[in-house]
Amino acid sequence: MEAGVSDSLVVDTFRMHLADIADVDLSQLHALSIAVGWPHRAEDWRFLLDIGRGFAALDEIDRVLGSAMWFPHGDDFATIGMVITSPRLQTNGAAQWLMRKLIAGEFGTRRLRLNATRAAYRLYLSLGFLPRASVHQCQGDARPLPDAPPIPAGLTLRELSPAHLDQIAALDAPAFGAVRRLHLARLFEQSVSYGLFRGQSLRAFSMCRRFGRGHVVGPVVAHSDEEAIAVVHPHVIAHADTFLRLDTHFKTGAFANFVQQCGLPVFDTVTTMTLGEHADYGSGEDGQAMVFTLASQSMG
Ligand SMILES: CC(C)(COP(=O)(O)OP(=O)(O)OC[C@H]1O[C@@H](n2cnc3c(N)ncnc32)[C@H](O)[C@@H]1OP(=O)(O)O)[C@@H](O)C(=O)NCCC(=O)NCCS
Repeated sequence: MEAGVSDSLVVDTFRMHLADIADVDLSQLHALSIAVGWPHRAEDWRFLLDIGRGFAALDEIDRVLGSAMWFPHGDDFATIGMVITSPRLQTNGAAQWLMRKLIAGEFGTRRLRLNATRAAYRLYLSLGFLPRASVHQCQGDARPLPDAPPIPAGLTLRELSPAHLDQIAALDAPAFGAVRRLHLARLFEQSVSYGLFRGQSLRAFSMCRRFGRGHVVGPVVAHSDEEAIAVVHPHVIAHADTFLRLDTHFKTGAFANFVQQCGLPVFDTVTTMTLGEHADYGSGEDGQAMVFTLASQSMG
């Protein structure tokens, strides 16, 4: 980990300084993400500020020109997100400065994971992050399948209640690669969630909440494409003909085909990158469940 990164950066003719992102005006952060074409609503920012930490870069009259956040998942793992610099400031080293500042002070020995846009990929490579997988951002006007996909034999589909949170967290941890019970609880509060059960045992779950231009389906954790399809399709029905998004590592196979058939083509692709050992998502090879869709690109 790096020490001694300056608290200010000279860009052109002015000096930028750092502020705790929690102390910065929400409307300025919202304006920053709009300036780079991101869909976050003020409410989406508020949620991220509630569960995450980070810095904002301010100019001499305290206008927000950059941001970088991280989201602790327990004591040994974190995701990084909301790394943005104002278009008029880009390619002057500001994002690199913000990232070096985060890495120098904040993470301790945590394993790190992030989802890099094309614009940020080389920046993260230069900081030692390694590419691990592609994430396909799929979105559009949702179109339910004419015939509801079958529920896998022996399983039942039910809407989840807060009483299921322990089971959700236990199923999720090996798939996500870290324990994120607090985040799951916060996401659950904002979501409609479904689970697939064998008897009383949870096999798969999906959450769907308001985000950006419409709703996002994530996280989805399941043991197979068929299970993932079964827990996602109710959300497609609920949001028929409205904007729906999901972010998935699956480009081919039954789940990916299902997503396309539901009117959600690939809109963009980002790259999951990690720093430190054992920071990957679970592979599902050992009979564990897998993450089929992300909660968000920032939270993983
Ligand atoms: C991605 C993003 C944060 C990068 O911000 P930035 O402030 O331009 O980043 P930096 O200036 O630190 O570095 C970007 C590039 O400029 C180069 N650079 C740094 N200082 C420079 C300088 N003084 N003059 C010219 N180029 C410079 C860096 O080497 C880097 O080059 P690379 O493409 O070879 O890696 C910014 O483009 C952005 O906000 N994009 C939209 C949102 C987004 O995609 N965020 C990433 C989420 S993962």
